[in-house]
Amino acid sequence: MSIEKRIPLNSGGLSLSRLVLGAWRLLDQGAKPSAAGVARLIDEAIALGLTSFDHADIYGNYGVEVAFGAGLAGWSGKRQSIELITKCDIMLTSDQRTENRVKHYDTSAAHIKASVDRSLQNLKTDYIDVLLLHRPDPLMDADDTAGGLQAVVEAGKVRAVGVSNFTPSQIDLLASRLPFAVVTNQIEMSVTATAPLTDGSLDHAQRLRYAPMIWSPLGGGSLFTGTGEQEQRVRAALQAVGAELGVDDIAAIAIAWLLRHPARLVPVLGSLKPERLAKMVAALDITLERQQWFAILKASTGRDVA
Ligand SMILES: NC(=O)c1ccc[n+]([C@@H]2O[C@H](COP(=O)([O-])OP(=O)(O)OC[C@H]3O[C@@H](n4cnc5c(N)ncnc54)[C@H](OP(=O)(O)O)[C@@H]3O)[C@@H](O)[C@H]2O)c1
Repeated sequence: MSIEKRIPLNSGGLSLSRLVLGAWRLLDQGAKPSAAGVARLIDEAIALGLTSFDHADIYGNYGVEVAFGAGLAGWSGKRQSIELITKCDIMLTSDQRTENRVKHYDTSAAHIKASVDRSLQNLKTDYIDVLLLHRPDPLMDADDTAGGLQAVVEAGKVRAVGVSNFTPSQIDLLASRLPFAVVTNQIEMSVTATAPLTDGSLDHAQRLRYAPMIWSPLGGGSLFTGTGEQEQRVRAALQAVGAELGVDDIAAIAIAWLLRHPARLVPVLGSLKPERLAKMVAALDITLERQQWFAILKASTGRDVA
């Protein structure tokens, strides 16, 4: 059985590709992709069905949006054929933000509006599909934050609003002040980071019927390089399940494990290598049996369920 290639984030809401491409690593290890190189990457992603691109204002020391925007400006495709997600509220101490004396969060309406304007400029676009608050801010004044989010939506600068790394109660608080839904919570989860299964995040998503986006779905690469007992057990379990299914790529099985969850998880893939992405996209054609799913969970936790 094959899994839907696109997914509405919430009922009647906007759709993303079921697998999203994360742009966080675009400038890693001093990479300086040309505008043509970025445009080519966008085309290669689309050819694999990845039409949604995940950003944050801070990625690459505030440089990823700019590099991606340069590519987008020269790209021959139609803006409406892709979705751009970006985030705001983390304030880094950086040569790009000398006014930040300490790393902090800012969910004030004034900052949200200014950050959206900057992201639009950087990405060379006139709208953002989904704006996420990147981290919960202990000083969030829900009325003020909601006012800022409403303002950017009403101005047509942002189509939908979500959060990242929020607890269910933090989402409920924000949602209580908004006239529209919070469409997603982008959280960390993978075969080696399973907390959302039990911390209420996925229960909340199912209850409110929004699709959570999943960051570091391969443990940020530790699935391949990790030498701990957990990683070794998980790699063996992924290989065993892969052998049963005739799939030799453990990344595809690890992504399929996420896709099997009924909360409709949307993995944000971190590799920008088309050959690796092509293997992971194969996960959309893999449906793990219940016992295969539990065998991988057992390898992750190191024990049978009770
Ligand atoms: N909301 C948040 O707080 C938050 C936090 C972190 C990330 N994110 C988002 O989530 C996205 C994904 O995060 P992530 O990059 O950590 O995801 P990930 O997919 O778990 O990890 C990507 C890493 O795994 C490596 N990798 C992938 N396939 C591999 C393979 N077959 N063999 C060996 N290594 C492999 C990649 O190396 P190569 O690059 O060499 O392929 C890359 O270093 C980010 O781009 C960002 O958009 C959000």
